[in-house]
Amino acid sequence: MKFVCSACGATAPVTTRAARCACGGLWKLDFKPPLFDPELIDRREWSLFRYRAFLPLDGAESADSASTQSIEKWRAVTLGEGMTPIVALDEDTLLKMDYFMPTLSFKDRGAAVLVAHAAAIGVESVVQDSSGNAGNSVAAYCARAGIACEIFVPEGTSPAKIAMIKSHGATVTIVPGSRDRCAEVCRAKVADGGAYYASHVFNPFFYEGTKTYIYEVWEELGRVPAHIFVPLGNGTLFIGIVKGLEELLAAGLIARMPKIIAVQSERCDPIARAWEDGAAEPAHITPMPTLAEGIAIGVPARGAEILEYVYKYGVNVVTAPEGRILEARAALAAKGIYCEHTSAATYAAYLDQRDRHGRIYDSLIPMCGAGLKSDH
Ligand SMILES: Cc1ncc(COP(=O)(O)O)c(C=O)c1O
Ligand SMILES: [Zn+2]
Repeated sequence: MKFVCSACGATAPVTTRAARCACGGLWKLDFKPPLFDPELIDRREWSLFRYRAFLPLDGAESADSASTQSIEKWRAVTLGEGMTPIVALDEDTLLKMDYFMPTLSFKDRGAAVLVAHAAAIGVESVVQDSSGNAGNSVAAYCARAGIACEIFVPEGTSPAKIAMIKSHGATVTIVPGSRDRCAEVCRAKVADGGAYYASHVFNPFFYEGTKTYIYEVWEELGRVPAHIFVPLGNGTLFIGIVKGLEELLAAGLIARMPKIIAVQSERCDPIARAWEDGAAEPAHITPMPTLAEGIAIGVPARGAEILEYVYKYGVNVVTAPEGRILEARAALAAKGIYCEHTSAATYAAYLDQRDRHGRIYDSLIPMCGAGLKSDH
């Protein structure tokens, strides 16, 4: 197991504290789990670590000391994340209730694995930037692991998210300006001071955690639905879903890739525009304010990687109509599902596609964040 630079191909041990390659390229993780085999699921473990045979924790391929130590680190770090139910909303639509998580969003999947790794390599303090949810997750898992934590959030972030981050003992730095500006300020601190960057975007261990979303879908349903909707900002759930599906495909547990429909905000749509133009890099856009704060990413750092997957697997990239987010949220709430605006945006996009093209059978939509977090 090692890091490989996505730009120049240089390698580094996973014990590195460098947030990215010296050339500026982002790390990819060279980790090949065994073929996905249901027999290897630890059914006594009631968290996503039941899939640890397929996670970069136990040194399956490597005997380096970091991976050996992390065998036990995950036990000290887990908060019982994952194992979220799938609920039928109507005859066409399934909801995966990922806000039933320790910090109320899907980000716990990635943060649990990332922080287990950071603890295993002896990291004592981390920094991270976030629209709020990833910061909540990293702060909680760092608190659990005894790692000091500073989270940068953009101005306008939901007060409930900020209060939660602080409650875990993390320092919160509020950055004036956009979500992209917030990332720049945090990355400047990483570049200057060498702080460990527990980034859900830069650090590939995060994606190894989010791929458990698909493992669970397969384990719960015994299959993967025909249409997989996924919100797309920085792509941490998107990339995890693609990786998970690739593993199921390689293991022969699914016959083909399902149709993936990635959802951006119509007010912040760099990937959707690139896809419409057939471009390899995200479009340059000026983000406009949106209720879907979780996907308001104007400059997705892994944009080119996301677009590679989009073309490879015939993904559709659609946008959520801003004017339907509140309506979608109210429709879900009227059925007992109180999600945050960013999750309602995915449902708004689904409703919009259905109005345009007719029924979308066998659709799976993630309910990524809890409603109380975005009430402001
Ligand atoms: C509730 C919610 N949904 C979706 C997303 C989008 O995730 P990503 O930026 O990894 O694509 C986020 C990210 O913060 C989020 O908080
Ligand atoms: Zn490089």
